[in-house]
Amino acid sequence: MTKEKTVLSGVQPTGRPHLGNFFGAMKQFVELQNSYKTFIFVADYHSLTKQQDPEGLRINTKELVLDYLAIGLDPKKTIIFKQSDVPQVTELSWIFNCITTVPYLMRAHAYKDAEAKGGEVNVGTFSYPLLMAADILLYDADLVPVGQDQKQHVEYARDTALKFNRTFTELFKLPEPLILDTVKVIPGIDGRKMSKSYNNTIPLFSSNDEIKNLVMSIVTDSAGDKPENVYAIHSLFRNSNDLEKIYDENRGKYKNLKEALIADITDFIDPLRKKRQEIAQDEDVVNKVLKHGASIAQEIATKKMLEVKKAIGAN
Ligand code: ADP
Ligand code: TRP
Repeated sequence: MTKEKTVLSGVQPTGRPHLGNFFGAMKQFVELQNSYKTFIFVADYHSLTKQQDPEGLRINTKELVLDYLAIGLDPKKTIIFKQSDVPQVTELSWIFNCITTVPYLMRAHAYKDAEAKGGEVNVGTFSYPLLMAADILLYDADLVPVGQDQKQHVEYARDTALKFNRTFTELFKLPEPLILDTVKVIPGIDGRKMSKSYNNTIPLFSSNDEIKNLVMSIVTDSAGDKPENVYAIHSLFRNSNDLEKIYDENRGKYKNLKEALIADITDFIDPLRKKRQEIAQDEDVVNKVLKHGASIAQEIATKKMLEVKKAIGAN
């Protein structure tokens, strides 16, 4: 089967991926790689907007590639690469900067959230959606599997493609987000969106002790007789019939319910963790995968940028 459509997504190397990242986005990468031309990258330049720590970045990048491999991304099917290995992406994002207005970017959630916190906001955070648009459009992606919180960014990419096509030449495809209705936003142990930046996650490769401690600390001050946050996380592992039964039988018994969740998460994570350890035995695996991915991604990006330069008159 020739793979006609292209899927592309990325994750920032800002810490350990968690159940929210996995069920919201990463799981789809693995499923889609069989039927789509798939590009999955490490968004290291995006992470620079909030994390300026060279050693941390090196470690997190390597860890994220191991995570990708452990969940089942196959370098023979998926082009796995590092964003910064393809400099054309920043070149393209500059061009996008020049056709985008300031008020339009000021409506981006990420910028508004950063501003609402009151500190200084760097220019990278402001133009973040345009680097993401370049990530997506450079490879002619059709579908972008992400969690609900990234929907607006994919809309920015679409709008940017339209603006470029109108201003210069029809060159870019209009990408669509791929968001699972059943997942959308997974809560963290404090009930807010599970996120590396809130320190409320259950990491995807947690140890058994971590799983136990984290689940036991899930906030359960819900008004009904069902602990909503426990239930929402539990629904990632069991169908609704199973769940209704467990939650009916243990009405109000939060400790039992948490223990059932611990058992399910542990069964799920245990084989993943083992696979990751096996893969990590080969100390060079990350370098090999990234080198291979970079060479393919660079070739595609180089071709596309030649067309872009021609379209804007910089050839
Ligand atoms: P984080 O907020 O933890 O830093 P990222 O911004 O790195 O997460 O997100 C990586 C991917 O995981 C994105 O596609 C994002 O939409 C998805 N994602 C992150 N948190 C959640 C969540 N709590 N529920 C569903 N999807 C999520
Ligand atoms: N902004 C995304 C996130 O925080 C990461 C990302 C960067 C991305 N470029 C992308 C996701 C392109 C999909 C497509 O999760």
